[in-house]
Amino acid sequence: MELTINGRKTTVDDAAVAPEMPLLWVLRDVLNLTGTKFGCGIAACGACTVHVDGQATRACVTPVGSVAGQPIRTIEALGSPEAPHALQQAWVQHNVPQCGYCQSGMLMAAAALLQKNPRPSDADIDAAITNLCRCGTYPRVRAAIHTAAALMQPGKKA
Ligand code: FES
Ligand code: FES
Repeated sequence: MELTINGRKTTVDDAAVAPEMPLLWVLRDVLNLTGTKFGCGIAACGACTVHVDGQATRACVTPVGSVAGQPIRTIEALGSPEAPHALQQAWVQHNVPQCGYCQSGMLMAAAALLQKNPRPSDADIDAAITNLCRCGTYPRVRAAIHTAAALMQPGKKA
């Protein structure tokens, strides 16, 4: 099966990867992209959020065969230490992470939101970011999304 992950075409062995295997397993266990986390396995927590064709998608309940041929983006491609995404800059500024476990999913959900809605209100953020955080970082997540949205306005460096 051929997958398009972080802008690269990747072939996975059909003998090892059945079409119904969750995308999360393929990312973590086959491709060693371990930035995407396993939390609940039932689409409840959002720790496994990636983008499929720009949409925030819970990889734990997404059969890999259903996304073959579509662009998949994981946290590994959101930014880099040298060129962090505006959200990553804002996350640092607001000291968002505590234990950190939920945070790659939070960031991917936030990135999908800002792609659709560049200036979300608190209500828009609360409606779009349904990820769970056991450490209760929700107020900081909200504040950091507003900061990132401001950084991403035209003329600002994201
Ligand atoms: S691990 Fe996928 S939503 Fe919790
Ligand atoms: S930072 Fe610990 S679960 Fe969210």
